[in-house]
Amino acid sequence: MVVKKIISSPFVAIAVLVTLVAVIFRFSPKLLLSRQQRLFTAEELALHNGTDESIPILLGILGSVFDVTKGKSHYGVGGGYNHFAGRDASRAFVSGNFTGDGLTDSLRGLSSTEVKSIVEWREFYFRSYTCCLSLSSEGQCLVFTLPSPAVRFVGKLVGRYYDNQGNATKYLKGAEAKAARGAQLLEKQKAEEAKQPGCNSRWSQDEGGEVWCDTGFPRLVQRPLEIALTGKMSKRCACFLEDQLDQQGLEVYEGCDYLSQTCRV
Ligand SMILES: *[C@@H]1O[C@H](CO)[C@@H](O)[C@H](O)[C@H]1NC(C)=O
Ligand SMILES: *[C@@H]1O[C@H](CO)[C@@H](O)[C@H](O)[C@H]1NC(C)=O
Ligand SMILES: *[C@@H]1O[C@H](CO)[C@@H](O)[C@H](O)[C@H]1NC(C)=O
Repeated sequence: MVVKKIISSPFVAIAVLVTLVAVIFRFSPKLLLSRQQRLFTAEELALHNGTDESIPILLGILGSVFDVTKGKSHYGVGGGYNHFAGRDASRAFVSGNFTGDGLTDSLRGLSSTEVKSIVEWREFYFRSYTCCLSLSSEGQCLVFTLPSPAVRFVGKLVGRYYDNQGNATKYLKGAEAKAARGAQLLEKQKAEEAKQPGCNSRWSQDEGGEVWCDTGFPRLVQRPLEIALTGKMSKRCACFLEDQLDQQGLEVYEGCDYLSQTCRV
């Protein structure tokens, strides 16, 4: 009797449901993703730009379409992210260019770290969809928000990233491969740079900037993988011991003594 009463109480029923949903999410986010998918054309997606409040606000990124109606204050008309509504403006996630042709799904000429960052934005939307607040390093969800997700994955946009069967195009696979390469390069750069300790640095309004080494001497060095990563040259400050100072490519800070441990910048 008591058991029956407990089970039939709406509170317990909801708790059981919530647990069940959490278990399903935990073990099979893919199951949920595979349901309820629809293919959109660019014209259909364009209607969902937030103007018509009777239909959901949708956003595309790398051809995945998400319902962001719950974020109406951001994605709706007048919101700061309204540019993303009703279209796939993947490029603008990293370019910050929300004008004219800046709102495009073309990734032409972007570096591998930029493409990686767009892929991470797509992950962010997928994570919001599975109600996951915190992912373990193995990709398992540790903390769920319930009852309902802020973002819903609703389908795919037919075009650059998905064909009219909903299959990933070469372009999508290429972008994902480029992002993976970017991640590898970043790891490699981290490992390389860990071999040569970086300088300490501080900056204050009154005294300006300063770099220093507790052991060794500050030198500017080219970051070797930076061109591959970002397409730009960039230098960092690293500390070298006296017997390493004749290596190639080490640059003394302008106005700094050869054997000074602190340099103004
Ligand atoms: C925005 O959506 C409305 C209706 O939902 C549509 O009439 C309008 O053409 C859309 N704007 C653009 C730029 O596609
Ligand atoms: C944004 O992109 C458009 C088209 O590519 C370009 O003409 C414009 O200069 C860009 N604006 C900024 C601020 O980069
Ligand atoms: C495209 O998707 C369909 C089902 O959605 C599948 O049967 C087909 O094999 C896929 N084609 C390719 C080239 O992957």
